[in-house]
Parts: sequence; C-alpha cells; structure tokens
Amino acid sequence: MLNPKIEEAFNRQLNAELFSSYLYLSMAAHFESQNLKGMANWMRIQAQEENAHAMKFFDFINERGGKVVLTQIDAPKLEWPSPLAAFQEAHQHECKISELINGLVDLALGEKDHAANAFLQWFVTEQVEEEASVLEIAEKLKLAGDQGGVLFMLDRELGQRTLPAAPPA
Ligand code: FEO
Repeated sequence: MLNPKIEEAFNRQLNAELFSSYLYLSMAAHFESQNLKGMANWMRIQAQEENAHAMKFFDFINERGGKVVLTQIDAPKLEWPSPLAAFQEAHQHECKISELINGLVDLALGEKDHAANAFLQWFVTEQVEEEASVLEIAEKLKLAGDQGGVLFMLDRELGQRTLPAAPPA
C-alpha cells in the first residue's frame, strides 16, 4: 500500500511533468510559427519525453496500489521574445523540476519509503542531463547573438534530434 503522503506528492509531480510537456509543446508551436523548424522539433521531442516522465509516475503510483488523480494542468505561455528567452526559461523550469524531485527524495527518505527513493534516483540522474542539455543550447544562442547564419545552423542541428528508442520491456 502506498503511503498517502507519497501518493499525494507523486500525483502532484505527475501534474508537474504533464505541465512540462505542455510548456515545451507550446514552445514547439511558437517555434513552428516563427519557421524555426529545428527548434520546434527539439521542443516537440522534449514534450514527448516529459510525457514519458509523467507516465513513470502514473505507473509507479498504480503498481504500489495507489490511486492516480489527474488534476487541471495550467495553461503555458504562448510566446517568447526570442529563441534565447525560450531556452533560458526552459532551463529555469528544469532547475525548478530538479528542486521538486529533490523534495520528493527528502520526503521518501523521511517516510522510510525505500522503493519510492529507488524509483526517484532515476529522476535525480535524469535532471542533471535535462538541465545540462537545455543550458548548452541557451549558451550557444547567447553566443550566436543576432548572427542569423549561426542561428540557422543551430536550428538545423536541433532538427536532428530524435526520440531515443524505448528500452526493452
Ligand atoms: Fe521531467 Fe524535464 O523534467
């Protein structure tokens, strides 16, 4: 049986991951409208990854005998003044998600829920990569400044991103 405090906190995180997916999908839509197809592709894949994160929480709650409770997802912003602003916001968002994950680890340890703690360690590692990858793009955009050629090349590079193959079940 899942500890009710963990159940509630994991349901909140499920919502936060779905919001992340929604936020990045909104960024993808924004980049599409700007004809920055590569950045749109990168954000679209990011949105799919966030959905997969949400489903990990969905499955864990169910496997432990808890109840998934889906709640309203906040509306994301619709526009950003520049690609740099969008990627900087994505980086800030990932830092916030890392804090939420760390808070869940603290809770799991406090409640002596070792299974929840073990489950969360995947996210602890994942967040390091999530923060780094988006920060790297923001740094490149900062260096590019208003050089259209560099922006074009970066857009092409981000267009190469594909969804990693799912691990065998
Ligand atoms: Fe699910 Fe980008 O954290």
